[in-house]
Amino acid sequence: MISTRAALLYGPGEEYKIDTVEIDEPGPGEVLVEIRACGLCHSDEHVRTGDMPLPHYPVICGHEGAGEVAQVGPGVTSVAPGDHVALAFIPSCGSCASCRTGRGFLCDMGMKLFDTGMITDGRIAHRISGAPVARFAQLGAFAERQLVAESSVVKVDPEIPWPAVALVSCGVATGFGSAVSRAGVRAGDTVAVLGIGGVGISAVQGARVAGARRIIAVDPVEFKREQALRFGATHAYPSLDEAIAGVGQLTWGQMCDSVICTFGVMRGELLEPALTLTAKGGTCVVTSVAPMAQAQADVNLFLLSMMNKEIKGCLYGSESPRVQIPRLLNLYRDGVLKLDELITETYRLDQVNQGYADIEAGRILRGVLTF
Ligand SMILES: NC(=O)c1ccc[n+]([C@@H]2O[C@H](COP(=O)([O-])OP(=O)(O)OC[C@H]3O[C@@H](n4cnc5c(N)ncnc54)[C@H](O)[C@@H]3O)[C@@H](O)[C@H]2O)c1
Ligand SMILES: [Zn+2]
Ligand SMILES: [Zn+2]
Repeated sequence: MISTRAALLYGPGEEYKIDTVEIDEPGPGEVLVEIRACGLCHSDEHVRTGDMPLPHYPVICGHEGAGEVAQVGPGVTSVAPGDHVALAFIPSCGSCASCRTGRGFLCDMGMKLFDTGMITDGRIAHRISGAPVARFAQLGAFAERQLVAESSVVKVDPEIPWPAVALVSCGVATGFGSAVSRAGVRAGDTVAVLGIGGVGISAVQGARVAGARRIIAVDPVEFKREQALRFGATHAYPSLDEAIAGVGQLTWGQMCDSVICTFGVMRGELLEPALTLTAKGGTCVVTSVAPMAQAQADVNLFLLSMMNKEIKGCLYGSESPRVQIPRLLNLYRDGVLKLDELITETYRLDQVNQGYADIEAGRILRGVLTF
């Protein structure tokens, strides 16, 4: 039996509590990872606030993680003890139709993401005083060490600093891919990014790397707008209304080739202004997670068809983590992608509540737990 300190949620709307969790030794296809860094992504915050209620509590959150392999179970071939890995919040089985067609971000194993038992064989391998403990997205990286499936880890270059590996594992891969892969930003485009957190700032960087001519950042927080301009945005507005007016003038009414929604929380009433910012023939990508029960959205259906617009959902930047994580880390090594500058603050595991309070207050672009 292995034990770890972890940040647990005992129910929606509660704060994290630090407790000791007992975990099994790695079974077949499983890996024990010593977590070295974990980013504070808003997706965990959806669990804490209750936007995304989970089937089982307590749950260990944290998914934007990086760590060192400590032990491997029977049959594990892609990693060995000592390897550095990024945690992928969608596993890659390698054999389902999605994986086989190069769309690992849609792997069928995703179906088991919110199971309490292990993705490998369904057994309960995490306990607190004998009772089962769930892990967000089969990861639970707000912990010193964690037992995960081999399908959930991606081997990375050991020379890359831990926080950079952590950020790329979710926020950066998601934001970058939202712009480059899902929206298909091309040289000369006008792009708007709505909401400048870790995901939005990575969409700004994706648009910059793809050669966008104008990058419009929208965020009510002045610090976020300053950061966006530092990472490649050309214009920044505090509200959607001001962006619609400003972009209308800038583009002589043509608006944006693509609009990427990376608000902290997606709401039905945010879609129509995002579509107003979208040019005719343009693409509106929805990456933000909405409350699970949100089933209504404002969309002018007349203009949707008459302007030939597209609305696209986006999971994990619409790229396979096994391909995209090493590729983005190469861009970081080459100095094309800025990652160190994304981190405003680092925290200890027991400061996780403070970290999310700082995000809520608009004080940080991305925070990272280090171990
Ligand atoms: N689809 C996916 O695969 C995927 C993966 C990771 C994260 N996400 C989601 O992406 C979203 C962003 O995540 P994050 O970690 O960057 O969040 P974050 O909380 O760090 O940043 C969100 C930003 O949105 C801004 N914002 C809030 N309301 C706004 C409004 N009305 N107009 C403009 N800006 C507004 C906030 O000021 C903040 O700067 C979350 O919903 C998260 O769950 C989705
Ligand atoms: Zn995330
Ligand atoms: Zn698969």
